[in-house]
Amino acid sequence: MPVTRLRPPPLRRPRAVLGTALAAIAAGGLVAIAFAGCGVVGPGPISTVGKVDFDTPLAIPPLAESTVDADGTRVFSLDAQAGTTEFTPGEPSATWGFNGNYLGPTLVAERGEHVRVDVANSLDEPTTVHWHGMHLPAEMDGGPHQMVAPDASWSPEWDIDQQAATLWYHPHPHGETEDHVARGLAGMFILHDEHERSLGLPSEYGVDDVPVIVQDSGFSAEGEQESKQRGYAGGLGDELIVNGTRGPYLEVSDELVRLRLLNASTARTYAFTWGDARPVELIATDGGLLEASVSLDHVRLSPGERAEVLVRVTPGERVVLQSKMTPEIAGLVGPVADTNGGSDAFDVLEVRAAETLDPAPPVPAALNTIDDFDESEVAMTRNFTLNDSFEINGEAMDMGRIDETVTVDTLERWIVDNATSLPHSFHVHDVQFRIASIDGAAPPAELAGWKDTIFTEPEKKYELLMRFEDYSDPDTPYMYHCHLLWHEDQGMMGQFAVVEPGQRATITEGTHHEH
Ligand code: C2O
Ligand code: CU
Ligand code: CU
Repeated sequence: MPVTRLRPPPLRRPRAVLGTALAAIAAGGLVAIAFAGCGVVGPGPISTVGKVDFDTPLAIPPLAESTVDADGTRVFSLDAQAGTTEFTPGEPSATWGFNGNYLGPTLVAERGEHVRVDVANSLDEPTTVHWHGMHLPAEMDGGPHQMVAPDASWSPEWDIDQQAATLWYHPHPHGETEDHVARGLAGMFILHDEHERSLGLPSEYGVDDVPVIVQDSGFSAEGEQESKQRGYAGGLGDELIVNGTRGPYLEVSDELVRLRLLNASTARTYAFTWGDARPVELIATDGGLLEASVSLDHVRLSPGERAEVLVRVTPGERVVLQSKMTPEIAGLVGPVADTNGGSDAFDVLEVRAAETLDPAPPVPAALNTIDDFDESEVAMTRNFTLNDSFEINGEAMDMGRIDETVTVDTLERWIVDNATSLPHSFHVHDVQFRIASIDGAAPPAELAGWKDTIFTEPEKKYELLMRFEDYSDPDTPYMYHCHLLWHEDQGMMGQFAVVEPGQRATITEGTHHEH
């Protein structure tokens, strides 16, 4: 069976050459010229719609095993490892993964539980594990200050104190995050709660409640890890993989299926849609369920964002999840895509319904209650301007500098201004936030729920509201950053500490890891 490629094979370039291109961008912001100088040839129009052979069953990441300690702590183990993965049978690629060689197991926990994850690092370089979307103490967050050395281990523990949601985990070593994620270090972290269970949504893992981790891979058909093509957004892979599976199909035997979409790509943004144009039924965003399901033409996910969607199938039918090109994401597949007329559209996953399907109860109209923050309680307004040099408020990330000091148990308004002509994104650790407005207007229904990562369109302002309820720690910061991982690695990140009233934040010597 011929291998369908999203792009022609990328040019393999030594890091030094990439470095020159990056320096040129940093110096002049002349992205197109920098890339022309490094020899990237624009490929022809990219569309795999109707061309992908869905010939491999979708791999389902195993559920992480756990034990419960005498004190009730649920304990998981993750070991970052190097190994190989055969994306195509007989063609091993060098990959990394947790407890295996590509991606990692899915962790599942319940609101109210106390969890601990014993993280081991069997790689020969330091890494971290960050719990993206999780509300937890800063020292458990797994950001760049919680490095785990080779052969060392780290055991963060915290209370699950937030609603049911699809979260994920990935490395966060400053300057190396794109590389570590691209090699395969990522996994899903699903939270449940009583309210969500009471809704009767599909909830049988891997059967009618299915993780869909979408990535564009830089692994070549010959089994080597190629340097990805460099676009404005970062490394763009030439193959689409879902849960590490190329050309995946998912067989289902339930009429109602819940897909947990996670964009774990380092740079690529998707606009997920159904091949037969049925609406996308969105029920949850990053931090939990929406108040009611929303019918959309497509759901846009930039790197790090999640969406839960429901799909109702009829016996024997096949329906293809695709990603289409939309005007807002054209800039995010970068100069490479711009040169081919913006026709990026591709097949992602084929859902195949069995001839006999188990019926599903109707989905309740009311899924959640989301109370608006009371804006009169805003204690502090902060501005974050994203610029062309991959800086926030004119500064690049400095591990030794606390950029913002937040008083615990206060409501804050963060105004994120993408002052550039190209997209970025914005992610805040520790909290789930609400989008109060986009350029002064109320957000669309799909962005009205709980979010921790947003796509920021060019020249738009996003007003975010968030409450920093607890977990003060003057010595350990959390991060906020663009989640285009290459931008983040270049320094498009800042640090905030949550402190008691009147307390001063400091970076403790020793937790400061010089890159
Ligand atoms: Cu998904 Cu700061 O990261
Ligand atoms: Cu995060
Ligand atoms: Cu960015």
